[in-house]
Parts: sequence; structure tokens; C-alpha cells
Amino acid sequence: MAVDPKSLLCNCHGVMHGTVQRVIDKHECKTVADVTRLCRAGAGCRSCHVEIDELLTLAAAKRGGFWRRLLRRFRS
Ligand code: FES
Repeated sequence: MAVDPKSLLCNCHGVMHGTVQRVIDKHECKTVADVTRLCRAGAGCRSCHVEIDELLTLAAAKRGGFWRRLLRRFRS
């Protein structure tokens, strides 16, 4: 499902989807803590952690390796 990059992902800190996606891609973040350190998303109530985690999983799958194999297993 495509998400509007200008939509708000983290309400607590006003961080957009596109910002989180760029941070994940540029720095190859592996954890929510990595994302939080770089752009503050997830540093408040933590309700956005699930969404950040989904973006991390998708990015890892695109990069390949362990996550790609894991996702393939769940999709088959
Ligand atoms: S919505 Fe992201 S920390 Fe609260």
C-alpha cells in the first residue's frame, strides 16, 4: 500500500512518512531507536513504533539478506 510521504507518521514530533523513509534509506537504519536518534520520530508516546517497524522491515527486504529470505518464507 502506498503511503503519502507528506502524511504524518509521528504525531508527537510532527515527523512525516517521507522523512522517516529517507532517514531509513540514507542511513540503512535497522531499529526504531536508530530512526528516533536521527529524526526524533518515535521519541514520544511510541504509538508510531509499529509503523516505523513496518518501514524498517520493508527497507531491509529491499536491501536483501536475512529479511528478504524471511519475508519470502511468510509469503509462500
Ligand atoms: S506518535 Fe510517534 S512518539 Fe508519539
